[in-house]
Amino acid sequence: MASYKIALLPGDGTGPEVLQEGVKVLNAAGARFGIKFDTNLYDFGGDRYLKTGEILPDSGLEELKHYDVIYLGAIGHPDVKPGILEKGILLKIRFELDQYINLRPVKLYPNVDTPLKNKGPEDIDFVVVRENCGGLYTGLGGAARIGTPHEVAVQEMVYTRQEVDRCLRYAFEFTRRRNKRKTLTLCGKTNVLTYVYGLWERAFHEMGDKDFPDVKREYAHVDATTMWMVKNPEWFDVIVTGNMFGDIITDLGAMIQGGMGVAAGGNINPGGVSMFEPIGGSAPKYTGLNVINPIACIAAGQMLLDHLGQTQAADCIERAIIKFLESRAIPGLSVKEIKQAGYSTTRIGDEIAGLVATV
Ligand code: IPM
Ligand code: MN
Repeated sequence: MASYKIALLPGDGTGPEVLQEGVKVLNAAGARFGIKFDTNLYDFGGDRYLKTGEILPDSGLEELKHYDVIYLGAIGHPDVKPGILEKGILLKIRFELDQYINLRPVKLYPNVDTPLKNKGPEDIDFVVVRENCGGLYTGLGGAARIGTPHEVAVQEMVYTRQEVDRCLRYAFEFTRRRNKRKTLTLCGKTNVLTYVYGLWERAFHEMGDKDFPDVKREYAHVDATTMWMVKNPEWFDVIVTGNMFGDIITDLGAMIQGGMGVAAGGNINPGGVSMFEPIGGSAPKYTGLNVINPIACIAAGQMLLDHLGQTQAADCIERAIIKFLESRAIPGLSVKEIKQAGYSTTRIGDEIAGLVATV
């Protein structure tokens, strides 16, 4: 029997509630496909920080390196200054474990409302490959004369050729494997950020010419990308981009696929330990109310299984999610709609886990 060691990081707010449903569904898939999950819980997050002052100790980080995979709920606590936990936990794990790819599918499931008029599941199905360790997130910069009228602040967009190449290679290989329209779009800003996106563009075409002649290449500036995502999302197959642009366009992506309640992502180190998470935040005001939508976290579990090579089990979770949505048990994915339909976080998890046994 295949067996995997998973570190569970429920985190803050509604993170623990959605992660519990994600694990429930994972176990249902495990039972059906003969996969064993050996899980360990880590309580990194706002509550622990407020109690002990500890954010993510080096020993904890070291332990995380010994798992097959990490499954995360959400990070962000209303009583902790923004940035402390995000940088100290989420970004620290991404950077230290060198999870240099952030894979974010933008897929509209049947019966899910999109704000885009006249667009349906056949139009909204692409994947963003976001570089996840460098660029503006590298942390280079500084400030001086803080608090005076002459304050100066610098935060630099930094990329090495090696960082760009490894991200592009992943994106090309992913596009080939996905085998949909075999089109990879580089999203940049070559008309202004000529150094950084000039480097991306050169590397993109050199690699494409040399190693991926079967993958069609396109280019779009980031501002135009947001426009096309709304106007003609069907044009996209796979988009590859730097860290900051990827962060921004994937929030837009989450909205067109039906909201944060369905959007999942993977922080991937192809040769190391990867981490899967729902991409919406911790939604602290709903903590403990059992009303938040767990589907994004369940979909992150599907990505986790796919990453482990358990594609049958992963596909089964996706079928279960789709079947659940097709049943129209809940009219929409918002907290309000879930409550109106008499549903709850746990009930959605139970039903999807139940479907995993049969679909
Ligand atoms: C995301 C989030 C993070 C990011 C924050 C919380 C640091 O917005 O995962 O997209 O900027 O990457
Ligand atoms: Mn973001």
